[in-house]
Amino acid sequence: MTKASDLPDGERRIVSHNGVEIGVFHWEGAFYAYQNLCVHQGGPACEGLIMHKVEDVLAPDRTWHGQRFSADQVHFVCPWHGYEYDLRTGECAADRRLKLKTYEVVRRGEDVYVRAD
Ligand code: FES
Repeated sequence: MTKASDLPDGERRIVSHNGVEIGVFHWEGAFYAYQNLCVHQGGPACEGLIMHKVEDVLAPDRTWHGQRFSADQVHFVCPWHGYEYDLRTGECAADRRLKLKTYEVVRRGEDVYVRAD
């Protein structure tokens, strides 16, 4: 359990429960929690850089016009080898069949709980 005020919007915290590390994210008013264990080789995925998805800009004729940051999709990047995860789902951006273990986050007033059962 943590206080919502201790986890401002845009921040994350790594908590531990029975020896399992869990990354808790506060992003645009919502809370998300994932096991801090990358699907690639077990790196601390939740501790990586948070950044908007980089996407290609294509003209109607499919010619490439550079890249830009997505306005709405946000990823965090495993610091070991760069696997990117969708901050709102825990899915691996390169292969959405791969996903971090997800935990429910419950907010009761100022208190934020992660349901780790
Ligand atoms: S362990 Fe995370 S990208 Fe390799």
